[in-house]
Amino acid sequence: MTVIPNKSQARERLNFDAGWLFHRGEIAGSEIENGLVLNGWRSKNAGKTKPSDEKLATLGVNNGRSEWNDAANGKDVFNQQVGFAWYRITLPNSPGPKRILHFAAVDDNATVWVNGKKMIYHEGWNDPFDVPLDEVWKEGGPNEVVVLVENTAGPGYIKEADLVDFDKEEKVPPAARAAYDDNLWKPVHLPHDFVVEGTFDPKADGSHGFLPKDSGWYRKSFDLPLNDKGKSLWLDFDGVYRDSRVWLNGKLLGKHASGYTSFRYDISDVANYGGKNTLTVYVDARISEGWWYEGGGIYRHVWLTKADPLHVKPWGTYVVSKPVGNKANLSLETTLINQSGSTASFKLVSEIKDNKGKTILKLSNPVKAATGAEVKIIQKGGFNKANLWSLENPYMYTWVTRVEKAGQIVDQVETSFGVRDIRFDKDKGFFLNSKPVKIKGTCNHQDFAGLGTAIPDRVFNYRIEKLKEMGSNAYRCSHNPPAPELLDACDRLGMLVMDENRKLGDTPEILSQLESMVLRDRNHPSIFLWSLCNEESLQGTKKGRSQGEAMKEVVKKYDKTRLVTAAMNYGWGGDGLSNVLELQGFNYAIDQYDAYRTSHPNVPLYGSETASTVSTRGIYVTDKLLGYVSAYDVNHTEWAHTAEAAWRPIAERPWMAGVFVWTGFDYRGEPTPYNWPCVNSHFGILDMCGFPKDNFYYYKSWWGDKPILHLFPHWNWPGKEGQQVDVWCQTNYDMVELFLNGKSLGKQETPRNGHLEWKVWYEPGTLTAKALHEGQVVAETKVETTGEPAQVNLEPYQTKMLADGEDTIPVVVSIRDDKGRLMPIADNQVTFKVTGPAHIAGVGNGNPSSHEPDKAEQRKSFNGLCMVLIQANETPGTIELTATSPGLKSATIELRSATQ
Ligand code: GAL
Repeated sequence: MTVIPNKSQARERLNFDAGWLFHRGEIAGSEIENGLVLNGWRSKNAGKTKPSDEKLATLGVNNGRSEWNDAANGKDVFNQQVGFAWYRITLPNSPGPKRILHFAAVDDNATVWVNGKKMIYHEGWNDPFDVPLDEVWKEGGPNEVVVLVENTAGPGYIKEADLVDFDKEEKVPPAARAAYDDNLWKPVHLPHDFVVEGTFDPKADGSHGFLPKDSGWYRKSFDLPLNDKGKSLWLDFDGVYRDSRVWLNGKLLGKHASGYTSFRYDISDVANYGGKNTLTVYVDARISEGWWYEGGGIYRHVWLTKADPLHVKPWGTYVVSKPVGNKANLSLETTLINQSGSTASFKLVSEIKDNKGKTILKLSNPVKAATGAEVKIIQKGGFNKANLWSLENPYMYTWVTRVEKAGQIVDQVETSFGVRDIRFDKDKGFFLNSKPVKIKGTCNHQDFAGLGTAIPDRVFNYRIEKLKEMGSNAYRCSHNPPAPELLDACDRLGMLVMDENRKLGDTPEILSQLESMVLRDRNHPSIFLWSLCNEESLQGTKKGRSQGEAMKEVVKKYDKTRLVTAAMNYGWGGDGLSNVLELQGFNYAIDQYDAYRTSHPNVPLYGSETASTVSTRGIYVTDKLLGYVSAYDVNHTEWAHTAEAAWRPIAERPWMAGVFVWTGFDYRGEPTPYNWPCVNSHFGILDMCGFPKDNFYYYKSWWGDKPILHLFPHWNWPGKEGQQVDVWCQTNYDMVELFLNGKSLGKQETPRNGHLEWKVWYEPGTLTAKALHEGQVVAETKVETTGEPAQVNLEPYQTKMLADGEDTIPVVVSIRDDKGRLMPIADNQVTFKVTGPAHIAGVGNGNPSSHEPDKAEQRKSFNGLCMVLIQANETPGTIELTATSPGLKSATIELRSATQ
């Protein structure tokens, strides 16, 4: 007799994004005892070469002499010059024992002496390290610290050092206790980024987008039924920026430093069953991990899982699939945990379902697990007529893993996966399912207009679709692991992913970040490369090599199916990290490709980062004061190239597997090539809202598979009559003829991977481009001088959303003339009104110098466009969005939200 297992026993995974309260900044009386931040460093220049006289590092030397200056934490004492600088400070008293001097970050390398004794030499910037003090501590003081800091590039400083006493029990801050009065805190729904809610400030950190960084507190109450007692309960945090602490019912569950890796806490023993529970999260976004906008807060999902004590370990399923002929061979590895208190005998059942939910393979094994044991089982099987995961048809299967005991399902998890074959060839580049695929990728950070880093799932879809539309087939998660939903979108839509670890290093912290990335992400068919790091200062050194070796070992322990690479900007082929890599990444340095290929003919290579072309959407005259760069493909940073100059050498070299262009989308921070008033980068092929710049059509012409004919600039140049205007055409047609008001301005043949250009005497009217093939006109496009702004137009990305309090639809807002043509220089202010169960999540316009708030009900258009993001509430219904602008015809659209 077949026993039908009772599904209700299986695990529950509850989304925990709703019902949070938030407080920005520190709370008096609830200060976090991170240790005492040391202020009052003094520093002095130590020259260009390493000082040989280490006596300087002993007590009292030159103390108080005028060449010692105040050196505030994080202040560049090197003025961007390479060299050495001394730092010194007298430590305050600390009761001990277990006093530690914790350096949160020194840029770059540091030698530390305490009371005249050399304690440590530490290489690498932005990499925390500790100096134990008890051995040299002088009761009653003074305790003197001297640091020799070496700067190898950019700014140099001690960013922060703390005096920590580890034996001191951390007090539970009142704000983490259940009884704390959080009545005045602000209700928020995750994902939430509080930094983007701030006001732009020219004094704030420009690399992070001139938005003030801060700390913050979150609280959430929830009830647990009595019958949850005895189950295993855990909380998953997909991403919290950063240095978080989490308490449940006043008990510290743990601390997590990284703002980019996912983490979890078991709460089975701390939870209050049959009553209320209070979860508190403290975050501190003031210390940076990178040099771009990083946001702050619980900016990814949180989940509560309730499972039987006998369950599949979180991230405990791993599928390796291999197509052989038309068959798929599978190896299914499951790690189980038995927390039940007694030996368990059960059946491990694996079912593979196709994308219609039909079971196509079932495997079952008897298993015995001692109490407290972790058991790893590998099941092998296969099925015929496998649908391969490809860029065109990203077919996904589901692996259902069940623990069945005495006819009951006690646990069940689902793992999505794809069947595909990936391979790199040293001469021919990358192969997907035995077909050559040139990698046409973009690098991207994780923020978006109106939202900051708090990206609702549908917006990931929007972004990936935009990139696919351009003909891009790969996404580099620069320079950190992404939200799991981004990877889901890439799986679903057919976009290859290079997943990237934040940093190079072999400290337990860095290795555990890498481990969590690989464990969490290794089932995604979209991921085809593991990147260890980006442009690290030790990449060219032996130390960098040994760090890389330790990291590679971690990757290979959990996944052998993908190659290990890194994005390097020097040291290719030297003694350093390069040696460890299975695939060599080149950031920029086009002129080095051939030399490396000659000296290392057996290592496949690719451009891990290229271009860094700068442009502003809809701008054709560079204006330094306003912070705008023309959108012709002519501007780039000094270390980089135009889109065309960066792509050609890759396109022309079959052994270059491909490229990741810096960047797909503009992002906040790094306002290169200018500074304030710019608050975001200009590197994007698309702007902050995902509106294409003209280079989008360059890539679409040479990356995509559709005919393209794109003519620019716009043709609204009042006052330019009788002057010449550069007219460009991005196209992949063989030949184009240009006309102004019906008069031919000549035909041109399109160079491969190039563009066309004319100089045209301006007169208002119509500019027409006709594409010719064998003498025949096969396509036509035009740019017209438009009328004045007359109406607002709204175009939603989609019209249906989930009534879950977070689903969000981007709506493109355009200003049009009375004939419905986009008014390309319009900057009209648009005001939005929402009725029905939704609200505005944010607004944007892609203007890199706009200081308007992202959280607002209005936005100026920028060169004719802006965006409003509409977010559903938790009740379903019809939503009406109206956009008005003084003197223009308004627009209204309808959206719907539903529970499914
Ligand atoms: C690269 C770096 C990126 C970004 C870019 C700007 O060198 O890897 O993070 O800063 O430069 O051009």
